[in-house]
Amino acid sequence: MAFEKFQLNGKTALITGAAGLLGIEHAVALLECGAAVVLTDINESALQEAKVMLSRSFDAKQIIVKIMDVSNRDSIQSVADDLVASEISISILVNNAAIDPKVKGEQGVLETSRLENFPLDQWNLQVAVGLTGAFLCSQVFGTAMANTGGGGVIINIASDLSVFSPDQRLYRKHGLSEDMQPVKPITYSVIKSGLVGMTRYLATYWADKGVRSNALSPGGVFNGQGEEFVQRLTNLIPLGRMASRDEYRAALQFLCSDASSYLNGQNIVMDGGRSSW
Ligand SMILES: NC(=O)c1ccc[n+]([C@@H]2O[C@H](COP(=O)([O-])OP(=O)(O)OC[C@H]3O[C@@H](n4cnc5c(N)ncnc54)[C@H](O)[C@@H]3O)[C@@H](O)[C@H]2O)c1
Repeated sequence: MAFEKFQLNGKTALITGAAGLLGIEHAVALLECGAAVVLTDINESALQEAKVMLSRSFDAKQIIVKIMDVSNRDSIQSVADDLVASEISISILVNNAAIDPKVKGEQGVLETSRLENFPLDQWNLQVAVGLTGAFLCSQVFGTAMANTGGGGVIINIASDLSVFSPDQRLYRKHGLSEDMQPVKPITYSVIKSGLVGMTRYLATYWADKGVRSNALSPGGVFNGQGEEFVQRLTNLIPLGRMASRDEYRAALQFLCSDASSYLNGQNIVMDGGRSSW
């Protein structure tokens, strides 16, 4: 049967940053394949809203929500302990949480996105969530997967910016001097490239225990961004448009299921062809 290998019945997937734009899409993707999902995030109200929304289309018993801060090992361990106590074992981990501060640019205000001014506390916070968070979750849940004997899957959500540098011309604001122009911060490139390195490391580390690891690198999702920005960005994309939020679902289903049983250590770049230009 063509789609038999996509079935995830009886499996439980944990998604970090699950209450955000793409986190919910990842949940839909996995629920569609029959998995149960543990949605984790620091935003409690958004998590509850996500559960209500998903329960309209899927069995609510398949959807568990847990507040979890990926930058805090105790918070992760406490969720892991709760799940063990409920006899739930995680065989799919989607490291999705990240902080992606919006590029602003204001007259007369020090432009802190620029490398010259980038605050160390922002570096530390963003790395703690986007990179250290993926390490800590992989350490806790990946170790458990390796020890069960049943194997598992770790997916790191990177970005097209894991394979090329941000084109800072996209973020330019009219009327601002060069030293005031906002940029995509250095953290984003470092974190997303780091996730690809982590993916390769994990892919070999627990391969003998049946734990596979791959990265999914989405291009920009249209979410009401300004017309000028969208025009500039879509000029760089051969398909001529940004992604719809649901366009990564099928890739996640492939990566998390036996449909990709021989894929390990790869970075799947879905960017409308942007990196081909
Ligand atoms: N949206 C895009 O265009 C796009 C493009 C490429 C890559 N990505 C990547 O996809 C992933 C999801 O992006 P998104 O657009 O859904 O972002 P989002 O900001 O909508 O969601 C991120 C979620 O992470 C949560 N979070 C923040 N700090 C946390 C912490 N310490 N612990 C746990 N959760 C925390 C937030 O509360 C939020 O719900 C990110 O890794 C992002 O870099 C997004």
